[in-house]
Amino acid sequence: MKIPIIMDCDPGHDDAIALILAHASEKLDIRAITTIAGNQTVEKTTLNALKIMTFLGSEIPVAMGCAKPLFRELITASEVHGETGLDGPVLPEPSYEKSDLHAVELMAETVRNSSEKITIVPTGALTNVALFLTSYPQLKENIQQISLMGGACWGGNWTPAAEFNILVDPEAAKIVFESGIPIIMSGLDVTHKALIKDVDRERFRSSGTKAGIMVAELLDFFAKFHDDNFDFGGSPLHDPCAVAWLIEPELFTSKLCHADIETKGKLTLGNTVVDVYEVLKKEKNITLLYDIDREGFVDLLAAHLEKLP
Ligand code: BDR
Ligand code: CA
Repeated sequence: MKIPIIMDCDPGHDDAIALILAHASEKLDIRAITTIAGNQTVEKTTLNALKIMTFLGSEIPVAMGCAKPLFRELITASEVHGETGLDGPVLPEPSYEKSDLHAVELMAETVRNSSEKITIVPTGALTNVALFLTSYPQLKENIQQISLMGGACWGGNWTPAAEFNILVDPEAAKIVFESGIPIIMSGLDVTHKALIKDVDRERFRSSGTKAGIMVAELLDFFAKFHDDNFDFGGSPLHDPCAVAWLIEPELFTSKLCHADIETKGKLTLGNTVVDVYEVLKKEKNITLLYDIDREGFVDLLAAHLEKLP
Protein backbone atom coordinates (compact mmCIF):
# COMPACT_ATOMS: atom_id res chain seq x y z
CA MET A 1 0.00 0.00 0.00
CA LYS A 2 1.21 3.50 -0.81
CA ILE A 3 1.97 5.83 2.10
CA PRO A 4 -0.62 8.65 2.07
CA ILE A 5 1.07 12.00 2.62
CA ILE A 6 0.37 15.70 2.93
CA MET A 7 3.23 17.89 1.69
CA ASP A 8 3.38 21.18 3.63
CA CYS A 9 5.93 23.34 1.83
CA ASP A 10 7.31 26.74 0.82
CA PRO A 11 8.64 26.18 -2.72
CA GLY A 12 11.53 26.99 -2.87
CA HIS A 13 13.96 25.07 -5.10
CA ASP A 14 14.51 22.13 -2.76
CA ASP A 15 10.79 22.01 -1.85
CA ALA A 16 10.01 21.82 -5.58
CA ILE A 17 12.40 18.88 -5.98
CA ALA A 18 10.82 17.23 -2.92
CA LEU A 19 7.39 17.56 -4.58
CA ILE A 20 8.74 16.09 -7.83
CA LEU A 21 10.34 13.15 -6.00
CA ALA A 22 7.17 12.42 -4.02
CA HIS A 23 5.03 12.65 -7.15
CA ALA A 24 7.31 10.24 -9.03
CA SER A 25 7.41 7.67 -6.23
CA GLU A 26 5.29 4.54 -6.49
CA LYS A 27 5.50 4.25 -2.73
CA LEU A 28 3.88 7.60 -1.95
CA ASP A 29 0.41 9.00 -2.53
CA ILE A 30 0.28 12.82 -2.22
CA ARG A 31 -3.25 13.50 -0.96
CA ALA A 32 -2.85 17.26 -0.53
CA ILE A 33 -0.31 20.06 -0.77
CA THR A 34 -0.41 22.92 1.69
CA THR A 35 1.77 25.99 1.50
CA ILE A 36 3.43 28.23 4.01
CA ALA A 37 5.32 31.51 3.99
CA GLY A 38 9.09 31.16 4.38
CA ASN A 39 11.33 31.07 1.36
CA GLN A 40 8.97 33.70 -0.02
CA THR A 41 5.53 35.12 0.80
CA VAL A 42 2.75 32.56 0.94
CA GLU A 43 1.15 33.97 -2.24
CA LYS A 44 4.39 33.25 -4.10
CA THR A 45 4.99 29.80 -2.58
CA THR A 46 1.38 28.85 -3.42
CA LEU A 47 1.77 29.98 -7.01
CA ASN A 48 5.02 28.01 -7.21
CA ALA A 49 3.39 24.84 -5.88
CA LEU A 50 0.60 25.17 -8.48
CA LYS A 51 3.17 25.72 -11.24
CA ILE A 52 5.19 22.66 -10.24
CA MET A 53 2.11 20.43 -10.10
CA THR A 54 0.96 21.81 -13.47
CA PHE A 55 4.41 21.01 -14.88
CA LEU A 56 3.97 17.46 -13.58
CA GLY A 57 0.49 17.21 -15.15
CA SER A 58 -1.12 16.76 -11.75
CA GLU A 59 -4.07 18.54 -10.17
CA ILE A 60 -3.55 17.53 -6.55
CA PRO A 61 -5.30 20.14 -4.37
CA VAL A 62 -3.06 22.97 -3.22
CA ALA A 63 -4.27 25.08 -0.29
CA MET A 64 -2.66 28.31 0.83
CA GLY A 65 -1.63 28.49 4.47
CA CYS A 66 -0.45 31.07 6.96
CA ALA A 67 1.08 34.30 5.71
CA LYS A 68 3.16 34.76 8.86
CA PRO A 69 4.49 32.84 11.85
CA LEU A 70 2.34 32.44 15.00
CA PHE A 71 3.87 35.32 16.97
CA ARG A 72 6.67 36.79 14.91
CA GLU A 73 7.31 38.74 11.76
CA LEU A 74 8.10 36.72 8.66
CA ILE A 75 11.69 36.12 7.56
CA THR A 76 12.08 35.22 3.86
CA ALA A 77 15.02 33.72 1.97
CA SER A 78 15.03 35.60 -1.32
CA GLU A 79 18.84 35.52 -1.42
CA VAL A 80 18.63 31.72 -1.73
CA HIS A 81 15.49 31.30 -3.84
CA GLY A 82 15.13 34.63 -5.69
CA GLU A 83 12.27 37.12 -5.98
CA THR A 84 9.73 34.55 -7.17
CA GLY A 85 10.91 31.97 -4.62
CA LEU A 86 11.66 29.70 -7.56
CA ASP A 87 13.94 31.73 -9.83
CA GLY A 88 15.66 29.94 -12.69
CA PRO A 89 13.61 27.66 -14.91
CA VAL A 90 10.63 28.79 -16.95
CA LEU A 91 7.58 27.14 -15.42
CA PRO A 92 4.09 26.86 -16.92
CA GLU A 93 1.29 29.04 -15.62
CA PRO A 94 -1.00 26.99 -13.33
CA SER A 95 -3.70 24.97 -15.08
CA TYR A 96 -5.81 25.01 -11.92
CA GLU A 97 -6.72 27.25 -9.01
CA LYS A 98 -5.75 26.87 -5.39
CA SER A 99 -8.33 25.29 -3.10
CA ASP A 100 -11.00 27.47 -1.49
CA LEU A 101 -9.97 25.95 1.84
CA HIS A 102 -7.23 27.27 4.10
CA ALA A 103 -4.25 24.91 4.38
CA VAL A 104 -5.22 23.97 7.94
CA GLU A 105 -8.77 23.08 6.80
CA LEU A 106 -7.49 21.04 3.87
CA MET A 107 -5.17 19.16 6.23
CA ALA A 108 -8.10 18.44 8.55
CA GLU A 109 -10.38 17.35 5.71
CA THR A 110 -7.69 15.12 4.21
CA VAL A 111 -6.92 13.44 7.53
CA ARG A 112 -10.62 13.08 8.47
CA ASN A 113 -11.57 11.53 5.12
CA SER A 114 -8.72 9.03 5.04
CA SER A 115 -9.22 5.43 6.11
CA GLU A 116 -5.47 5.13 6.66
CA LYS A 117 -3.27 7.21 8.92
CA ILE A 118 -1.65 10.14 7.13
CA THR A 119 2.03 11.11 7.14
CA ILE A 120 2.72 14.84 7.13
CA VAL A 121 5.87 16.02 5.32
CA PRO A 122 6.66 19.61 6.30
CA THR A 123 9.52 21.24 4.41
CA GLY A 124 8.99 24.81 5.60
CA ALA A 125 8.14 26.61 8.83
CA LEU A 126 5.79 24.60 11.03
CA THR A 127 3.02 27.22 11.44
CA ASN A 128 0.31 25.36 9.50
CA VAL A 129 1.08 22.05 11.18
CA ALA A 130 1.06 23.61 14.67
CA LEU A 131 -2.28 25.30 13.98
CA PHE A 132 -3.72 22.07 12.62
CA LEU A 133 -2.63 20.09 15.69
CA THR A 134 -3.98 22.67 18.13
CA SER A 135 -7.24 23.27 16.21
CA TYR A 136 -8.06 19.61 15.59
CA PRO A 137 -6.58 17.63 18.53
CA GLN A 138 -9.11 14.84 17.89
CA LEU A 139 -7.43 14.15 14.51
CA LYS A 140 -3.97 13.67 16.03
CA GLU A 141 -4.46 9.93 16.36
CA ASN A 142 -4.95 9.72 12.59
CA ILE A 143 -1.43 11.03 11.96
CA GLN A 144 1.09 8.26 11.42
CA GLN A 145 4.22 10.42 11.68
CA ILE A 146 5.74 13.74 10.68
CA SER A 147 8.81 13.52 8.42
CA LEU A 148 10.13 17.05 8.45
CA MET A 149 13.06 19.07 7.18
CA GLY A 150 14.25 21.41 9.89
CA GLY A 151 16.69 21.96 12.70
CA ALA A 152 20.21 20.74 13.38
CA CYS A 153 22.08 19.23 16.32
CA TRP A 154 25.17 21.05 15.27
CA GLY A 155 25.32 24.54 13.72
CA GLY A 156 22.74 26.66 11.97
CA ASN A 157 22.42 28.06 8.47
CA TRP A 158 20.51 31.26 9.28
CA THR A 159 22.12 32.07 12.60
CA PRO A 160 25.05 30.19 14.11
CA ALA A 161 22.50 28.29 16.21
CA ALA A 162 19.40 27.96 14.04
CA GLU A 163 18.26 26.36 10.84
CA PHE A 164 15.92 28.51 8.70
CA ASN A 165 12.61 26.57 8.92
CA ILE A 166 12.72 26.35 12.72
CA LEU A 167 13.94 29.92 13.12
CA VAL A 168 11.04 31.29 11.04
CA ASP A 169 8.51 29.97 13.57
CA PRO A 170 10.12 28.51 16.72
CA GLU A 171 6.87 28.55 18.74
CA ALA A 172 5.14 26.48 16.05
CA ALA A 173 8.08 24.09 16.00
CA LYS A 174 7.82 23.67 19.79
CA ILE A 175 4.13 22.73 19.49
CA VAL A 176 4.93 20.14 16.82
CA PHE A 177 7.91 18.66 18.70
CA GLU A 178 5.78 18.36 21.85
CA SER A 179 2.78 16.87 20.03
CA GLY A 180 3.60 13.25 20.85
CA ILE A 181 3.45 12.33 17.15
CA PRO A 182 6.58 10.47 15.97
CA ILE A 183 8.90 12.97 14.27
CA ILE A 184 11.60 12.13 11.78
CA MET A 185 13.97 15.08 11.70
CA SER A 186 15.98 15.68 8.55
CA GLY A 187 18.06 18.53 9.89
CA LEU A 188 21.26 20.08 8.61
CA ASP A 189 23.25 17.21 10.20
CA VAL A 190 22.04 15.01 7.36
CA THR A 191 21.02 17.49 4.66
CA HIS A 192 24.50 19.02 4.52
CA LYS A 193 25.67 15.52 3.57
CA ALA A 194 22.95 15.19 0.90
CA LEU A 195 25.09 17.22 -1.47
CA ILE A 196 24.37 17.55 -5.13
CA LYS A 197 27.58 18.10 -7.05
CA ASP A 198 27.96 19.55 -10.55
CA VAL A 199 28.37 16.08 -12.00
CA ASP A 200 25.07 14.95 -10.42
CA ARG A 201 23.29 17.97 -11.81
CA GLU A 202 24.57 17.15 -15.30
CA ARG A 203 23.44 13.55 -14.84
CA PHE A 204 19.89 14.80 -14.14
CA ARG A 205 20.05 17.16 -17.13
CA SER A 206 21.17 14.42 -19.48
CA SER A 207 18.41 12.04 -18.33
CA GLY A 208 16.58 13.36 -21.39
CA THR A 209 13.32 13.83 -19.50
CA LYS A 210 11.60 17.21 -19.09
CA ALA A 211 11.66 16.65 -15.34
CA GLY A 212 15.39 15.92 -15.32
CA ILE A 213 16.13 19.11 -17.25
CA MET A 214 13.87 21.18 -14.99
CA VAL A 215 15.48 19.83 -11.83
CA ALA A 216 18.93 20.60 -13.28
CA GLU A 217 17.78 24.17 -14.03
CA LEU A 218 16.45 24.54 -10.49
CA LEU A 219 19.81 23.32 -9.23
CA ASP A 220 21.72 25.75 -11.48
CA PHE A 221 20.16 28.65 -9.54
CA PHE A 222 20.38 26.92 -6.15
CA ALA A 223 24.05 25.99 -6.71
CA LYS A 224 25.06 29.55 -7.48
CA PHE A 225 23.98 30.69 -4.01
CA HIS A 226 25.84 27.83 -2.32
CA ASP A 227 28.98 28.18 -4.46
CA ASP A 228 29.11 31.94 -3.78
CA ASN A 229 28.58 31.67 -0.03
CA PHE A 230 29.91 28.33 1.21
CA ASP A 231 32.56 25.76 0.59
CA PHE A 232 30.45 22.61 0.73
CA GLY A 233 31.56 21.16 -2.60
CA GLY A 234 27.93 20.96 -3.71
CA SER A 235 24.42 22.10 -2.82
CA PRO A 236 22.71 20.56 0.20
CA LEU A 237 19.42 19.21 -1.06
CA HIS A 238 17.55 19.67 2.21
CA ASP A 239 13.85 19.05 1.63
CA PRO A 240 14.02 15.93 -0.56
CA CYS A 241 15.64 14.12 2.41
CA ALA A 242 12.29 14.18 4.26
CA VAL A 243 10.69 12.46 1.25
CA ALA A 244 13.61 10.11 0.51
CA TRP A 245 13.44 8.70 4.05
CA LEU A 246 9.87 7.57 3.36
CA ILE A 247 10.87 5.93 0.08
CA GLU A 248 14.18 4.35 1.10
CA PRO A 249 14.91 4.68 4.83
CA GLU A 250 17.95 2.39 4.46
CA LEU A 251 19.81 5.32 2.89
CA PHE A 252 19.90 7.04 6.28
CA THR A 253 21.57 6.51 9.64
CA SER A 254 19.44 7.56 12.58
CA LYS A 255 19.11 7.69 16.35
CA LEU A 256 16.08 8.08 18.60
CA CYS A 257 16.51 11.19 20.74
CA HIS A 258 14.74 13.72 22.88
CA ALA A 259 14.62 17.21 21.34
CA ASP A 260 13.19 20.57 22.35
CA ILE A 261 13.06 23.98 20.67
CA GLU A 262 14.67 27.15 22.00
CA THR A 263 12.05 29.92 21.82
CA LYS A 264 13.69 32.55 24.04
CA GLY A 265 17.47 32.55 23.57
CA LYS A 266 19.05 35.79 22.48
CA LEU A 267 21.77 34.03 20.50
CA THR A 268 20.14 30.62 20.21
CA LEU A 269 16.52 31.34 19.16
CA GLY A 270 15.23 28.53 16.94
CA ASN A 271 17.87 26.03 18.00
CA THR A 272 16.74 22.39 18.08
CA VAL A 273 18.26 21.21 21.36
CA VAL A 274 18.85 17.50 20.77
CA ASP A 275 19.83 15.37 23.75
CA VAL A 276 22.21 13.16 21.77
CA TYR A 277 23.87 11.65 24.87
CA GLU A 278 20.58 11.15 26.76
CA VAL A 279 21.58 13.47 29.56
CA LEU A 280 17.98 14.33 30.45
CA LYS A 281 16.57 10.78 30.24
CA LYS A 282 13.42 12.29 28.76
CA GLU A 283 11.02 10.61 26.36
CA LYS A 284 12.50 10.26 22.86
CA ASN A 285 10.32 12.31 20.56
CA ILE A 286 12.40 12.36 17.37
CA THR A 287 14.23 10.04 15.04
CA LEU A 288 17.29 12.10 14.24
CA LEU A 289 18.69 11.46 10.77
CA TYR A 290 22.39 12.27 10.85
CA ASP A 291 24.03 10.47 7.96
CA ILE A 292 23.13 9.48 4.42
CA ASP A 293 24.44 7.28 1.64
CA ARG A 294 24.96 10.29 -0.64
CA GLU A 295 25.48 8.31 -3.80
CA GLY A 296 22.42 6.18 -3.10
CA PHE A 297 20.43 9.38 -2.62
CA VAL A 298 21.60 10.74 -5.98
CA ASP A 299 20.76 7.40 -7.63
CA LEU A 300 17.29 7.52 -6.06
CA LEU A 301 16.69 11.00 -7.46
CA ALA A 302 18.03 10.08 -10.89
CA ALA A 303 15.90 6.92 -11.07
CA HIS A 304 12.77 8.86 -10.16
CA LEU A 305 13.48 11.63 -12.68
CA GLU A 306 13.88 9.01 -15.39
CA LYS A 307 10.38 7.73 -14.67
CA LEU A 308 8.79 11.09 -15.39
CA PRO A 309 8.06 12.53 -18.85
C1 BDR B 1 15.41 24.98 4.55
O1 BDR B 1 15.25 26.38 4.35
C2 BDR B 1 14.67 26.64 3.11
O2 BDR B 1 15.28 27.75 2.50
C3 BDR B 1 14.81 25.39 2.30
O3 BDR B 1 13.72 25.25 1.39
C4 BDR B 1 14.80 24.30 3.34
O4 BDR B 1 13.49 23.89 3.65
C5 BDR B 1 16.88 24.68 4.76
O5 BDR B 1 17.34 25.32 5.91
CA1 CA C 1 11.64 24.49 2.26
